[in-house]
Amino acid sequence: MTKISSVLIADDIEQECVDILQNAGIQVSIKTKQTKEQLLESLPQHDAVIVRSATKITSELLDAAAGKLKLVGRAGTGVDNIDVPAATRNNVLVMNTPQANSRSAAELTCSLVMALARHVPQAAASMKEGKWARKDYMGEEVFGRTLAVLGLGRIGTEVAFRMQAFGMRVIGFDPVVSKEQAAARNIELLSLEEIWPQADYVTVHVPLIKQTENLINKESLAKCKKGVRVINVARGGIVNEADLVEALDSGHVAGAAIDVFEQEPPAFRELVDHPRAICIPHLGASTIDAQLRVASEIAENIVQLNQGTVLGVL
Ligand code: NAD
Ligand code: MLT
Repeated sequence: MTKISSVLIADDIEQECVDILQNAGIQVSIKTKQTKEQLLESLPQHDAVIVRSATKITSELLDAAAGKLKLVGRAGTGVDNIDVPAATRNNVLVMNTPQANSRSAAELTCSLVMALARHVPQAAASMKEGKWARKDYMGEEVFGRTLAVLGLGRIGTEVAFRMQAFGMRVIGFDPVVSKEQAAARNIELLSLEEIWPQADYVTVHVPLIKQTENLINKESLAKCKKGVRVINVARGGIVNEADLVEALDSGHVAGAAIDVFEQEPPAFRELVDHPRAICIPHLGASTIDAQLRVASEIAENIVQLNQGTVLGVL
Protein backbone atom coordinates (compact mmCIF):
# COMPACT_ATOMS: atom_id res chain seq x y z
CA MET A 1 0.00 0.00 0.00
CA THR A 2 1.26 3.53 -0.85
CA LYS A 3 2.29 5.35 2.34
CA ILE A 4 2.91 9.10 2.27
CA SER A 5 5.06 10.33 5.18
CA SER A 6 6.38 13.62 3.82
CA VAL A 7 4.74 16.19 1.55
CA LEU A 8 6.30 19.13 -0.26
CA ILE A 9 3.87 22.02 -0.87
CA ALA A 10 5.27 23.74 -3.95
CA ASP A 11 2.59 26.40 -4.66
CA ASP A 12 0.58 28.77 -2.46
CA ILE A 13 -2.22 26.90 -0.76
CA GLU A 14 -4.57 27.55 2.17
CA GLN A 15 -3.38 26.57 5.67
CA GLU A 16 -6.16 23.91 5.95
CA CYS A 17 -4.08 21.66 3.70
CA VAL A 18 -1.09 21.84 6.04
CA ASP A 19 -3.24 21.34 9.14
CA ILE A 20 -5.00 18.24 7.79
CA LEU A 21 -1.74 16.62 6.72
CA GLN A 22 0.08 17.42 9.96
CA ASN A 23 -2.84 16.26 12.11
CA ALA A 24 -2.55 12.91 10.32
CA GLY A 25 1.15 12.71 11.26
CA ILE A 26 2.48 13.65 7.82
CA GLN A 27 5.56 15.86 7.69
CA VAL A 28 5.02 19.00 5.57
CA SER A 29 7.61 21.31 3.96
CA ILE A 30 6.46 24.49 2.23
CA LYS A 31 8.75 25.75 -0.54
CA THR A 32 7.00 27.80 -3.19
CA LYS A 33 8.30 29.56 -6.34
CA GLN A 34 11.18 27.09 -6.72
CA THR A 35 13.39 27.09 -9.79
CA LYS A 36 13.79 23.90 -11.84
CA GLU A 37 17.17 23.31 -10.17
CA GLN A 38 15.64 23.67 -6.70
CA LEU A 39 12.80 21.28 -7.61
CA LEU A 40 15.29 18.75 -8.98
CA GLU A 41 16.84 18.73 -5.51
CA SER A 42 13.71 18.98 -3.35
CA LEU A 43 11.34 16.58 -5.13
CA PRO A 44 13.35 13.37 -4.50
CA GLN A 45 13.35 14.20 -0.77
CA HIS A 46 9.56 13.80 -0.45
CA ASP A 47 6.92 11.10 -0.93
CA ALA A 48 4.46 13.60 -2.40
CA VAL A 49 4.28 17.07 -3.85
CA ILE A 50 1.22 19.34 -3.91
CA VAL A 51 0.94 21.97 -6.66
CA ARG A 52 -1.61 24.38 -8.05
CA SER A 53 -0.88 25.58 -11.60
CA ALA A 54 2.33 27.60 -11.18
CA THR A 55 4.73 24.67 -10.69
CA LYS A 56 5.18 22.48 -13.75
CA ILE A 57 5.85 18.84 -12.92
CA THR A 58 7.81 17.82 -16.00
CA SER A 59 9.13 14.43 -17.08
CA GLU A 60 12.64 15.64 -16.18
CA LEU A 61 11.56 16.28 -12.59
CA LEU A 62 9.62 13.02 -12.37
CA ASP A 63 12.54 10.99 -13.74
CA ALA A 64 14.89 12.66 -11.24
CA ALA A 65 12.55 11.83 -8.34
CA ALA A 66 11.94 8.23 -9.50
CA GLY A 67 11.92 5.67 -6.70
CA LYS A 68 11.13 8.21 -3.94
CA LEU A 69 8.26 10.42 -5.16
CA LYS A 70 4.98 8.48 -5.07
CA LEU A 71 2.32 11.10 -5.62
CA VAL A 72 1.61 14.45 -7.28
CA GLY A 73 -1.42 16.21 -5.84
CA ARG A 74 -3.03 18.95 -7.90
CA ALA A 75 -5.08 21.35 -5.78
CA GLY A 76 -7.42 22.19 -8.66
CA THR A 77 -8.94 20.68 -11.80
CA GLY A 78 -6.63 20.84 -14.85
CA VAL A 79 -3.58 18.57 -14.77
CA ASP A 80 -1.98 20.10 -17.86
CA ASN A 81 0.94 21.32 -15.69
CA ILE A 82 1.76 17.70 -14.84
CA ASP A 83 3.30 15.24 -17.29
CA VAL A 84 0.83 12.44 -16.51
CA PRO A 85 2.39 9.82 -18.87
CA ALA A 86 5.81 10.46 -17.27
CA ALA A 87 4.22 10.12 -13.82
CA THR A 88 2.65 6.78 -14.83
CA ARG A 89 5.99 5.58 -16.22
CA ASN A 90 7.59 6.39 -12.86
CA ASN A 91 4.81 4.78 -10.78
CA VAL A 92 3.74 8.18 -9.46
CA LEU A 93 0.03 8.67 -8.71
CA VAL A 94 -1.58 11.89 -9.91
CA MET A 95 -4.56 13.18 -7.90
CA ASN A 96 -6.67 16.28 -8.45
CA THR A 97 -9.77 17.88 -6.90
CA PRO A 98 -12.00 18.16 -9.98
CA GLN A 99 -15.20 19.30 -8.29
CA ALA A 100 -13.82 21.69 -5.72
CA ASN A 101 -13.63 24.81 -7.87
CA SER A 102 -16.35 24.15 -10.51
CA ARG A 103 -18.92 26.47 -8.95
CA SER A 104 -16.42 29.32 -8.69
CA ALA A 105 -15.39 28.89 -12.34
CA ALA A 106 -19.06 28.76 -13.40
CA GLU A 107 -19.97 31.88 -11.42
CA LEU A 108 -17.03 33.76 -12.96
CA THR A 109 -18.14 32.68 -16.45
CA CYS A 110 -21.67 33.97 -15.83
CA SER A 111 -20.33 37.29 -14.52
CA LEU A 112 -18.24 37.60 -17.71
CA VAL A 113 -21.28 36.96 -19.92
CA MET A 114 -23.06 39.79 -18.12
CA ALA A 115 -19.99 42.04 -18.18
CA LEU A 116 -19.76 41.56 -21.95
CA ALA A 117 -23.46 42.31 -22.43
CA ARG A 118 -23.21 45.59 -20.47
CA HIS A 119 -19.53 46.66 -20.98
CA VAL A 120 -19.12 46.89 -17.20
CA PRO A 121 -15.28 46.93 -16.99
CA GLN A 122 -14.87 49.41 -19.86
CA ALA A 123 -17.55 51.75 -18.45
CA ALA A 124 -16.03 51.62 -14.96
CA ALA A 125 -12.55 52.35 -16.38
CA SER A 126 -13.90 55.33 -18.33
CA MET A 127 -15.42 56.83 -15.16
CA LYS A 128 -12.04 56.54 -13.44
CA GLU A 129 -10.68 58.64 -16.34
CA GLY A 130 -13.20 61.33 -15.35
CA LYS A 131 -15.68 60.64 -18.20
CA TRP A 132 -19.47 60.31 -18.12
CA ALA A 133 -19.85 58.47 -21.44
CA ARG A 134 -23.36 57.03 -21.21
CA LYS A 135 -23.80 56.82 -25.00
CA ASP A 136 -20.60 54.80 -25.46
CA TYR A 137 -21.79 51.85 -23.44
CA MET A 138 -25.13 50.81 -24.89
CA GLY A 139 -25.56 47.16 -23.94
CA GLU A 140 -28.02 44.37 -24.62
CA GLU A 141 -30.21 42.12 -22.48
CA VAL A 142 -29.20 38.49 -22.44
CA PHE A 143 -32.87 37.46 -22.05
CA GLY A 144 -33.94 35.53 -25.15
CA ARG A 145 -30.42 35.42 -26.58
CA THR A 146 -28.61 32.16 -27.31
CA LEU A 147 -25.69 30.90 -25.27
CA ALA A 148 -23.62 28.09 -26.78
CA VAL A 149 -21.85 25.97 -24.17
CA LEU A 150 -19.07 23.83 -25.63
CA GLY A 151 -18.30 21.10 -23.10
CA LEU A 152 -21.24 20.03 -20.93
CA GLY A 153 -19.28 18.67 -17.98
CA ARG A 154 -19.17 20.01 -14.44
CA ILE A 155 -18.62 23.70 -15.24
CA GLY A 156 -20.50 23.88 -18.55
CA THR A 157 -23.72 22.50 -17.03
CA GLU A 158 -23.47 24.85 -14.02
CA VAL A 159 -23.09 27.79 -16.42
CA ALA A 160 -26.08 26.64 -18.48
CA PHE A 161 -28.30 26.31 -15.40
CA ARG A 162 -27.39 29.79 -14.13
CA MET A 163 -27.76 31.58 -17.47
CA GLN A 164 -31.14 29.93 -18.05
CA ALA A 165 -32.26 31.87 -14.95
CA PHE A 166 -31.53 35.04 -16.97
CA GLY A 167 -33.80 33.76 -19.73
CA MET A 168 -31.07 32.63 -22.12
CA ARG A 169 -31.70 29.81 -24.57
CA VAL A 170 -28.85 27.33 -24.10
CA ILE A 171 -27.51 25.16 -26.90
CA GLY A 172 -24.46 22.95 -26.49
CA PHE A 173 -22.04 20.39 -27.81
CA ASP A 174 -20.27 17.56 -26.01
CA PRO A 175 -19.28 14.27 -27.66
CA VAL A 176 -20.12 12.16 -24.58
CA VAL A 177 -23.50 13.73 -23.77
CA SER A 178 -26.71 12.42 -25.38
CA LYS A 179 -29.57 14.60 -26.64
CA GLU A 180 -31.73 13.18 -23.84
CA GLN A 181 -29.18 14.00 -21.12
CA ALA A 182 -28.86 17.53 -22.47
CA ALA A 183 -32.64 17.95 -22.81
CA ALA A 184 -33.05 16.93 -19.16
CA ARG A 185 -31.06 20.10 -18.38
CA ASN A 186 -33.04 22.15 -20.88
CA ILE A 187 -30.04 22.30 -23.24
CA GLU A 188 -30.44 21.67 -26.96
CA LEU A 189 -27.59 19.39 -28.05
CA LEU A 190 -26.46 20.34 -31.56
CA SER A 191 -23.49 19.71 -33.82
CA LEU A 192 -20.79 22.40 -33.91
CA GLU A 193 -21.83 23.26 -37.47
CA GLU A 194 -25.38 23.91 -36.23
CA ILE A 195 -24.13 25.87 -33.23
CA TRP A 196 -21.88 28.47 -34.88
CA PRO A 197 -24.57 30.42 -36.78
CA GLN A 198 -27.06 30.36 -33.87
CA ALA A 199 -24.91 31.52 -30.97
CA ASP A 200 -24.95 35.05 -29.58
CA TYR A 201 -22.43 34.01 -26.91
CA VAL A 202 -20.02 31.05 -27.09
CA THR A 203 -18.40 29.80 -23.88
CA VAL A 204 -15.90 26.93 -23.80
CA HIS A 205 -15.68 24.43 -20.92
CA VAL A 206 -13.56 21.63 -22.38
CA PRO A 207 -10.14 20.31 -21.38
CA LEU A 208 -7.21 21.45 -23.51
CA ILE A 209 -6.47 18.36 -25.59
CA LYS A 210 -5.49 17.84 -29.23
CA GLN A 211 -9.16 17.80 -30.31
CA THR A 212 -9.99 21.07 -28.53
CA GLU A 213 -6.86 23.08 -29.33
CA ASN A 214 -7.93 26.06 -31.50
CA LEU A 215 -11.57 24.96 -31.29
CA ILE A 216 -12.44 28.64 -31.66
CA ASN A 217 -10.42 29.81 -34.63
CA LYS A 218 -10.65 31.88 -37.81
CA GLU A 219 -12.89 29.31 -39.54
CA SER A 220 -15.30 28.70 -36.66
CA LEU A 221 -15.56 32.43 -35.90
CA ALA A 222 -16.35 33.14 -39.55
CA LYS A 223 -19.31 30.74 -39.28
CA CYS A 224 -20.70 32.66 -36.28
CA LYS A 225 -23.11 35.60 -36.57
CA LYS A 226 -21.65 39.07 -36.72
CA GLY A 227 -21.65 40.39 -33.16
CA VAL A 228 -20.99 37.06 -31.43
CA ARG A 229 -19.23 37.21 -28.05
CA VAL A 230 -16.66 34.67 -26.86
CA ILE A 231 -15.81 33.58 -23.30
CA ASN A 232 -12.91 31.33 -22.22
CA VAL A 233 -12.63 30.34 -18.57
CA ALA A 234 -11.29 26.86 -19.49
CA ARG A 235 -7.74 26.83 -20.85
CA GLY A 236 -5.56 29.01 -23.03
CA GLY A 237 -5.12 27.52 -26.50
CA ILE A 238 -8.78 26.47 -26.89
CA VAL A 239 -9.46 29.90 -28.37
CA ASN A 240 -6.87 30.99 -30.93
CA GLU A 241 -5.78 34.40 -29.64
CA ALA A 242 -4.50 35.84 -32.93
CA ASP A 243 -7.69 34.80 -34.77
CA LEU A 244 -9.82 36.28 -32.00
CA VAL A 245 -8.02 39.63 -32.19
CA GLU A 246 -8.49 39.70 -35.96
CA ALA A 247 -12.23 39.07 -35.53
CA LEU A 248 -12.47 41.71 -32.77
CA ASP A 249 -10.68 44.20 -35.02
CA SER A 250 -13.04 43.56 -37.92
CA GLY A 251 -16.05 43.85 -35.59
CA HIS A 252 -17.24 40.35 -36.45
CA VAL A 253 -16.75 39.44 -32.79
CA ALA A 254 -18.35 42.11 -30.60
CA GLY A 255 -16.55 41.20 -27.41
CA ALA A 256 -14.44 38.58 -25.68
CA ALA A 257 -13.89 37.72 -22.03
CA ILE A 258 -10.76 35.72 -21.37
CA ASP A 259 -9.50 34.28 -18.07
CA VAL A 260 -6.87 31.88 -19.43
CA PHE A 261 -4.15 32.41 -22.02
CA GLU A 262 -1.91 30.48 -24.40
CA GLN A 263 0.98 31.76 -22.29
CA GLU A 264 0.49 32.90 -18.69
CA PRO A 265 1.16 35.70 -17.96
CA PRO A 266 0.27 36.53 -21.59
CA ALA A 267 3.00 37.69 -23.94
CA PHE A 268 0.49 38.40 -26.74
CA ARG A 269 -0.59 41.88 -25.66
CA GLU A 270 -2.91 42.63 -28.62
CA LEU A 271 -5.67 40.62 -26.97
CA VAL A 272 -5.17 41.96 -23.44
CA ASP A 273 -4.99 45.55 -24.70
CA HIS A 274 -7.97 45.26 -27.07
CA PRO A 275 -10.75 47.68 -26.06
CA ARG A 276 -13.47 45.07 -26.57
CA ALA A 277 -11.67 42.30 -24.68
CA ILE A 278 -12.13 41.78 -20.95
CA CYS A 279 -9.00 39.97 -19.81
CA ILE A 280 -8.46 38.78 -16.25
CA PRO A 281 -5.51 36.86 -14.75
CA HIS A 282 -6.76 33.23 -14.42
CA LEU A 283 -9.23 33.95 -11.63
CA GLY A 284 -11.70 31.09 -12.24
CA ALA A 285 -10.84 29.32 -9.00
CA SER A 286 -9.81 32.40 -7.06
CA THR A 287 -12.48 32.46 -4.41
CA ILE A 288 -11.91 31.80 -0.74
CA ASP A 289 -14.55 29.06 -0.98
CA ALA A 290 -12.88 27.17 -3.83
CA GLN A 291 -9.40 27.58 -2.36
CA LEU A 292 -10.50 26.22 1.02
CA ARG A 293 -12.12 23.27 -0.77
CA VAL A 294 -9.15 22.43 -3.02
CA ALA A 295 -6.75 22.72 -0.05
CA SER A 296 -8.73 20.47 2.25
CA GLU A 297 -9.77 17.95 -0.45
CA ILE A 298 -6.25 17.30 -1.70
CA ALA A 299 -5.01 16.85 1.87
CA GLU A 300 -7.91 14.56 2.78
CA ASN A 301 -7.27 12.49 -0.35
CA ILE A 302 -3.68 11.93 0.76
CA VAL A 303 -4.76 10.98 4.28
CA GLN A 304 -7.33 8.58 2.81
CA LEU A 305 -4.68 7.07 0.56
CA ASN A 306 -2.62 6.27 3.67
CA GLN A 307 -5.74 4.65 5.14
CA GLY A 308 -6.32 2.64 1.96
CA THR A 309 -9.49 4.45 0.80
CA VAL A 310 -9.03 7.13 -1.80
CA LEU A 311 -10.93 9.33 -4.24
CA GLY A 312 -9.60 11.55 -7.01
CA VAL A 313 -6.77 9.43 -8.45
CA LEU A 314 -6.41 10.02 -12.19
P1 NAD B 1 -15.27 18.25 -17.16
O1 NAD B 1 -14.32 17.13 -17.43
O2 NAD B 1 -16.29 18.08 -16.10
O3 NAD B 1 -16.02 18.67 -18.50
C1 NAD B 1 -15.38 18.80 -19.73
C2 NAD B 1 -16.35 18.32 -20.79
O4 NAD B 1 -15.77 18.61 -22.05
C3 NAD B 1 -16.61 16.81 -20.74
O5 NAD B 1 -17.99 16.55 -20.60
C4 NAD B 1 -16.09 16.32 -22.08
O6 NAD B 1 -16.85 15.27 -22.63
C5 NAD B 1 -16.20 17.58 -22.92
N1 NAD B 1 -15.39 17.55 -24.14
C6 NAD B 1 -14.22 16.91 -24.38
N2 NAD B 1 -13.82 17.13 -25.64
C7 NAD B 1 -14.75 17.94 -26.21
C8 NAD B 1 -14.90 18.50 -27.49
N3 NAD B 1 -14.00 18.29 -28.45
N4 NAD B 1 -15.97 19.29 -27.73
C9 NAD B 1 -16.89 19.51 -26.75
N5 NAD B 1 -16.82 18.97 -25.53
C10 NAD B 1 -15.76 18.20 -25.26
O7 NAD B 1 -14.35 19.54 -16.88
P2 NAD B 1 -14.72 20.81 -16.01
O8 NAD B 1 -14.40 20.54 -14.59
O9 NAD B 1 -16.06 21.28 -16.40
O10 NAD B 1 -13.58 21.82 -16.53
C11 NAD B 1 -13.65 22.38 -17.82
C12 NAD B 1 -12.41 23.21 -18.11
O11 NAD B 1 -12.30 24.28 -17.17
C13 NAD B 1 -11.07 22.46 -18.02
O12 NAD B 1 -10.25 22.92 -19.07
C14 NAD B 1 -10.51 22.93 -16.68
O13 NAD B 1 -9.12 22.81 -16.63
C15 NAD B 1 -10.96 24.37 -16.70
N6 NAD B 1 -10.99 25.05 -15.40
C16 NAD B 1 -10.56 26.35 -15.39
C17 NAD B 1 -10.62 27.06 -14.21
C18 NAD B 1 -10.12 28.47 -14.16
O14 NAD B 1 -9.59 28.87 -13.14
N7 NAD B 1 -10.25 29.25 -15.21
C19 NAD B 1 -11.11 26.46 -13.04
C20 NAD B 1 -11.55 25.14 -13.10
C21 NAD B 1 -11.48 24.44 -14.30
C1 MLT C 1 -7.95 24.60 -12.37
O1 MLT C 1 -7.72 23.89 -13.35
O2 MLT C 1 -8.24 24.13 -11.26
C2 MLT C 1 -7.96 26.08 -12.54
O3 MLT C 1 -7.33 26.48 -13.69
C3 MLT C 1 -7.61 26.88 -11.36
C4 MLT C 1 -6.23 26.76 -10.83
O4 MLT C 1 -5.32 26.41 -11.56
O5 MLT C 1 -6.05 27.04 -9.63
